[in-house]
Amino acid sequence: MVLRSSYRFCRLSMISNRASKIEASPTLAIDAKAKNMRKNGIHVINFSVGEPDFPTPENIKEAAIKAINEDFTYYTPASGIPELREALVKKLKSFNGLDYDPDQISISCGGKHSLFNIMQVILNPGDEVLLPVPYWVSYLEQIKLAGGKPILVPTDSQYKIHAELLKEKITDRSRLLILNSPSNPAGTICEEEELRKISEIILEKDLWIISDEVYESFIYDGKKHASIASLNQDVYNRTIISNSFSKTYSMTGWRVGYTAGPIEIIKAINSFQSHVTSNPNSIAQKAALEALLGSQNSVRKMIDSFDKRRKYILKRFKEISELDCNVPEGAFYVFPKIVGVKMKSMDFAKKILKELHVALVPGIAFGIDENLRLSYAISIEDIEEGLNRIYEFCNRNILH
Ligand SMILES: Cc1ncc(COP(=O)(O)O)c(C=O)c1O
Repeated sequence: MVLRSSYRFCRLSMISNRASKIEASPTLAIDAKAKNMRKNGIHVINFSVGEPDFPTPENIKEAAIKAINEDFTYYTPASGIPELREALVKKLKSFNGLDYDPDQISISCGGKHSLFNIMQVILNPGDEVLLPVPYWVSYLEQIKLAGGKPILVPTDSQYKIHAELLKEKITDRSRLLILNSPSNPAGTICEEEELRKISEIILEKDLWIISDEVYESFIYDGKKHASIASLNQDVYNRTIISNSFSKTYSMTGWRVGYTAGPIEIIKAINSFQSHVTSNPNSIAQKAALEALLGSQNSVRKMIDSFDKRRKYILKRFKEISELDCNVPEGAFYVFPKIVGVKMKSMDFAKKILKELHVALVPGIAFGIDENLRLSYAISIEDIEEGLNRIYEFCNRNILH
């Protein structure tokens, strides 16, 4: 007994102040709980997943197998293999209308890693980072890990960012804005006109922008993705793009992402990365190269499939008056607001998982306690069954 309690004391004091302030990712925690329930034979409908439910395309897997067989198993440059950086130069030109040199691109171990690298190299302690709410969970923790101070910026009723709302939060300590379009969790797109207004503020106040574009391929209803960096040369000089192969090519487990931006920033990221991870996985880099160079048919099929599910889920939400859902224009999530049930998001998520075996992420994880996030990267059959259960749950707990 004495031994156990002294061990506990010792373990607590071992953790640094920095690490003890960090919250574990709630989305991963719920996903793990749902998977564990499934292992125990429970039929859980898991709306909490943040990854496409499609296998990595065959051509990409074959490129990786070839790389292994050719012994492409040694260190590569910390910034990634030149062929991949060159292929990204072409992709950024053709898909995003942006001009970069290979030296302005750094390959990372996924989008999350790119974002972490950027914040580590541009933030000083106390720097304020403008973060629109709802935000993707890891931004908040990564800002804190870099010593920055998150400043939450409200959005409108459709969760869209507006330049005027942003302006109100700017102080002398503001250094960086994080933009995520299309966004996780609400699936909103920041239209070009708004991007222009935002960019004027950024330039006037001499701020940096991180543009997280991991969902750029998942856009619906004929909308278009515009990178803020493409607006003009001045904004380009203040923007650092973070992107990844995880979602577009269904490669979440391979861990390849990239950063594109001003050369001084990329040089700093490369030095930083060289002491932390060294290069991203060599085999995964070859797979990512094939993802860019090979057929894009599987990407198109995946987008079509997500769009069908999105339409289905929105149609079914009309039957559930206790949840009020905006129309997401991109990504693969819906973010309904709880309007007819007297429960905050965490209670709702816990109770529905326990009682009806539906896993979803409470909005509080994204900074809004009135909402829930559901991913539609699951089969249409599961979506149908999951929505039946949500309907039943809301009826049981309805506000009278
Ligand atoms: C908005 C956003 N950015 C970045 C990432 C990180 O992606 P990756 O798996 O490439 O690290 C995610 C993953 O869920 C995300 O939703």
